[in-house]
Amino acid sequence: CGIVGVIGKKNATEILIQGLEKLEYRGYDSAGIYVTSNQQQNYLIKSQGRIADLQSKIGKDVEGSIGIGHTRWATHGEPSERNAHPHTSGNDRFVLVHNGVIENFEEIKQEYLQNKQLLGETDTEIVVYLIEYFAEQGLETKEAFKKALSIIEGSYAFALIDSENPEVIYVAKNKSPLLIGLGKDFNVICSDAMAMLQETNRFLEIVDGEMVIVKADEIKIEDEKGNAVYRESYEAQLDLNDIEKGTYPYYMLKEINDQPTVMRRIVKEYTKQNGSVVIEPEIVEKIKASDRVYIIACGTSYNAGWVGKALIEKMAQIPVEVHLSSEFGYNMPLLSKNPFFIFLSQSGETADSRQVLVQTNRLGYPSLTLTNVAGSTLSREADYTLLLLAGPEIAVASTKAYTAQIAVLAIVAKAIGDASGNEQSEKFDIAHELSVIASIMETIIDEKATIDQLVTEYLSDTRNAFYIGRGVDYYVSMEASLKLKEISYIQAEGFAAGELKHGTIALIEKGTPVFGVITDKKTAAHTRGNLKEVESRGAHNFVISLASLSKESDQLVLPDVHSLLTPLVSVVPTQLIAYFATLQRGYDVDKPRNLAKSVTVE
Ligand code: G6P
Repeated sequence: CGIVGVIGKKNATEILIQGLEKLEYRGYDSAGIYVTSNQQQNYLIKSQGRIADLQSKIGKDVEGSIGIGHTRWATHGEPSERNAHPHTSGNDRFVLVHNGVIENFEEIKQEYLQNKQLLGETDTEIVVYLIEYFAEQGLETKEAFKKALSIIEGSYAFALIDSENPEVIYVAKNKSPLLIGLGKDFNVICSDAMAMLQETNRFLEIVDGEMVIVKADEIKIEDEKGNAVYRESYEAQLDLNDIEKGTYPYYMLKEINDQPTVMRRIVKEYTKQNGSVVIEPEIVEKIKASDRVYIIACGTSYNAGWVGKALIEKMAQIPVEVHLSSEFGYNMPLLSKNPFFIFLSQSGETADSRQVLVQTNRLGYPSLTLTNVAGSTLSREADYTLLLLAGPEIAVASTKAYTAQIAVLAIVAKAIGDASGNEQSEKFDIAHELSVIASIMETIIDEKATIDQLVTEYLSDTRNAFYIGRGVDYYVSMEASLKLKEISYIQAEGFAAGELKHGTIALIEKGTPVFGVITDKKTAAHTRGNLKEVESRGAHNFVISLASLSKESDQLVLPDVHSLLTPLVSVVPTQLIAYFATLQRGYDVDKPRNLAKSVTVE
């Protein structure tokens, strides 16, 4: 979910809507705004669906100088107008937006709100009623809010307005992200700086447990004990141009196209002219000193983690385990004596990953976050951070963050390998190889029209599809199938080529598309053998291979690249396959159903 707020500007409605549009990547099931002014004219408008749906319900008269807004990714309660935020208390005095999940809302309802008639099914509504409950007992708004916070368990970013005194927005957070943006005679709040860049580029962080009293000309931060806190603001290093799609029809296409530039930027930032890599020596030393690296991630970042494992094990000679954050946190495997944790997260905000970091910090283990967002929660809370330098990624389906993660992991792997005197690592001219890859990515992207045509031929009327490969080609297959299913809704599965015959081959029917990824010399013949097995059972095979391993009948042949980095090129056509399959089916490429880009709930 995404939150915005503004105080002290005449055109609050416009600012909220613009902000919500920028936050739509965080969820787009339903949205709402509350706008008021000192003259006590209040407007609460909510809508199921996208920000555009909400906008169409807002009349010209909806004006004010203070307001809060929300775009939702449903957790408790179906996406509907009733369950959309802002939520109001029974007497309509308090108005609240919330990002996160309240775990003990059933208990709160039982204990405090038995006599209240709640409208929807959200946990948030409970909180606003709880604030009202304490206000009715005579507490001032701030104290009532504080009292409610002391009872609530879970994750939250809240913005609260008391309509009887609409000169303040009360803000608090725990685990979920929230920032204050500073202006002249106005202030804003947002889940992500991107949402308010049009208004300001100075921001103030809020720490878990604090309460912030935001007025048009003043900001007061209080810690849990009520002591005043002073904090320096910072300038957001974000360019408004980076968050526009420009001439591209979709962000996803823009971001696929950005990849060569990102590779070159990574080379520039992380390598020297003489070919050596530039990684903070302390990070290298800490990883080198560990006996096992644990990569923790979700979704696409998890898939990148597997390629990272191959790179670190080969170059740095340290065993690596890759784990899903949501599993690891609650079923922690037996750890080695000196573990080192690498958190992969494009957004740096994913709640599942963060809950693991909280635990590893508690256990005192060293950690590194690889993220695209400087200052994000995972970046702040890990010992070290390396930035992906991919520029804002806005399409829900991740593309350039995946390739950036692999490139930066390769650089980390080489830094450790070089420091350990590993021969393969020392011989690996990564700056050169990544520059070659940048050019090859461009060539592949130029083949868009061919890929579009092949997609028509292979995927136009299928319900399911498979990607198969071995080793890193298997890892790419997992990412390729995730990309295809998450945006085109074709049920796609990435499979270890050799494993398919042990069960899943039963799903192959006449015409089932099977994509084989072949970039590894030692397994190429075996994967081809597996493709034959499915072909003789009716599969419609589509082979993506490296030139040196290709056969004339292959559908897409990619130029050769260094054997350690083949995923950086083999994944690109699969991104375009997913993109065109989605376009051809007429779905929204950038905002697939049921998803959100940044999932800040566990
Ligand atoms: C969400 C997104 C995925 C993403 C995953 C992890 O589920 O829809 O595209 O891969 O979160 O996100 P992160 O920001 O931690 O890399």
